[in-house]
Amino acid sequence: MDKLIVFTYVLACVGTSNAVNCTALPDGVYEAGCKSYALCTDGRVSFIDCPENTTFNNNTNQCDNISNVLPPCGRVIDCSTKPYGRYPDYLDNCKSFYTCYAGEFQGHNFCPGGTVFDPLASACNWKFAVAPPCGTFTA
Ligand SMILES: *[C@@H]1O[C@H](CO)[C@@H](O)[C@H](O)[C@H]1NC(C)=O
Ligand SMILES: *[C@@H]1O[C@H](CO)[C@@H](O)[C@H](O)[C@H]1NC(C)=O
Ligand SMILES: *[C@@H]1O[C@H](CO)[C@@H](O)[C@H](O)[C@H]1NC(C)=O
Ligand SMILES: *[C@@H]1O[C@H](CO)[C@@H](O)[C@H](O)[C@H]1NC(C)=O
Repeated sequence: MDKLIVFTYVLACVGTSNAVNCTALPDGVYEAGCKSYALCTDGRVSFIDCPENTTFNNNTNQCDNISNVLPPCGRVIDCSTKPYGRYPDYLDNCKSFYTCYAGEFQGHNFCPGGTVFDPLASACNWKFAVAPPCGTFTA
């Protein structure tokens, strides 16, 4: 019972994304994921989505051709035989996941704050709450 409450709480927290407050931040890129990032300019925030077939390149701080970017963002997955869903990137120790939709690869997302992707729950959660190989949970 206690465990269930803790897990529900964790899932609710992990799912929310932080708003970037640019007021006191230097101009630059913040909260970069593979497909979007927040840009602070003169204390104001804008959220940039990378165009189709591009992904965030953390060497140039811009969206770039996916073939120029290191994994996990730059790793293209063959989704042609995978059903619609979100999948852990095992090569990234499940710290990121990717989405397949209608046989097409939709890119990677990072799990926030040191969490890993739980394929059973299709959500990011703490390692201790996720079954192997992504986590360490044992019933
Ligand atoms: C953003 O940060 C500034 C100063 O750091 C603060 O005055 C302001 O209330 C914050 N805005 C929000 C929406 O939290
Ligand atoms: C993205 O890549 C796919 C597969 O290579 C291609 O079919 C599609 O036209 C591309 N879209 C853009 C906007 O380049
Ligand atoms: C850039 O991304 C690569 C691959 O994900 C990662 O290994 C590296 O630590 C990142 N560098 C920075 C400065 O975030
Ligand atoms: C991305 O790079 C690949 C391989 O170099 C190239 O074939 C493709 O045309 C590039 N796509 C874009 C949108 O520049």
